Amino acid sequence: MKRARHEGAAALVKLLLTTNPGIEDIAAHEAEAKISARLLEARDGFGRLYVEVDEDMLEFVEEMRSIHRAVIVLAESNVCPARSCLEKVYEIVKGSGVDFYVTPWTSFAVRAERAGTHEYTSLDIARVAGDAVIDAVKSRYGVRPPVDLDYPAVVVAVEVIEDNIMVGIDIGGELSWHRRGYRIYDHPAALKPTLAYAMLLLSGAADGDTVMDPMCGGGTIAIEAAYIFEDSRIICMDKSRRHIEGAVLNARAAMVEKRIEFIVGDATKLRRYVSSVDVLVSNPPYGIRARQPEGG
Ligand SMILES: C[S@@+](CC[C@H](N)C(=O)[O-])C[C@H]1O[C@@H](n2cnc3c(N)ncnc32)[C@H](O)[C@@H]1O
Repeated sequence: MKRARHEGAAALVKLLLTTNPGIEDIAAHEAEAKISARLLEARDGFGRLYVEVDEDMLEFVEEMRSIHRAVIVLAESNVCPARSCLEKVYEIVKGSGVDFYVTPWTSFAVRAERAGTHEYTSLDIARVAGDAVIDAVKSRYGVRPPVDLDYPAVVVAVEVIEDNIMVGIDIGGELSWHRRGYRIYDHPAALKPTLAYAMLLLSGAADGDTVMDPMCGGGTIAIEAAYIFEDSRIICMDKSRRHIEGAVLNARAAMVEKRIEFIVGDATKLRRYVSSVDVLVSNPPYGIRARQPEGG
C-alpha cells in the first residue's frame, strides 16, 4: 500500500536502512511504497541505504519486511583514526541532538560499530559516546539518564566507518528486524525473513496465486508470503515432521497460522500432495549450514 506523502506537513527525517547486501533495490522500493521514502543514496553491495521520510511516516517503518535496522540519522561528520580523535566523537555525539530522544526518564544504551583502521575500538567509541549522551542530557535537564545495557528504551547507534561517523537513534530498538520475534522454533538452517521477502517479490508471484514452499523448514517463506499476499493459498511442506511442527509454532507466533496449509511430505513427489501450484519459492538444503562439510 502506498501512503500519501504530505508535503510540508511534517519535518523530514533522514533514515539509514540496513538490509542484506544484494537486495538494496528491493528495500528502496519497499521504503518508497510503505513509508513514501525518497531515496538519497544506496550503497549497492553494502546493504545500506539512506532515505528521507516525513516524520509522521516513522510509525510505519516497522511494517517493512526487507530491512534489518532503521536508524534516524542525527549527525554525520568526519573523524580521524588517531586515539585523540575520540574527543571529536564525544563532541559530535553531544551536539547531535540526542538529548531530544534520551531524557532523564528514558534508559538508553549505545551500540557502536566500527570498520576500518583506527587507534580505538568500538568499545572505546561506545564508552565515549555514552559519556557524551549523559552530558548532553545533564546539560539539558540537569539530571543524568539511566543506562540500561540489557533493555534500553532508546538505542543510540554510533558508526565509525573509515573516516565517517554517523550518530543516530535505532528505531528498531534491540531486535534486529530480520528476527522479528516469530522465531519460536529455530530451524538449524533458517533463512532471514528479509531474504524470504525478497525471494517472494522476485518470484513474480501475485496476490491470489497458490504459493508453495515444498522444503519450508521453519516456515519463513510461507510466513512472509502470508504477510504479503492476502488472498493467496499458501502451502508449507517439509519432509521432517519436527520442522513442520516448528513451522506451525512460528506461524502461530506470527499470527498467520490459519493462512498457511502445512504438509509433512517429500518434495520429490509433489503430485502426491498438491494438484497444482502457481509459484514454488524455496530455500533448498545445500548441506552447508545444516551439516558440517566432511573434514570441516
Ligand atoms: C534450508 S532448509 C529450509 C529452511 C527454511 N527456509 C527456514 O527458513 O526455516 C531446507 C529444508 O528442506 C527440507 N527437505 C530436504 N529434502 C526434502 C524433501 N525431499 N522434501 C521435503 N523437504 C525436504 C529439510 O528438512 C529442511 O528443513
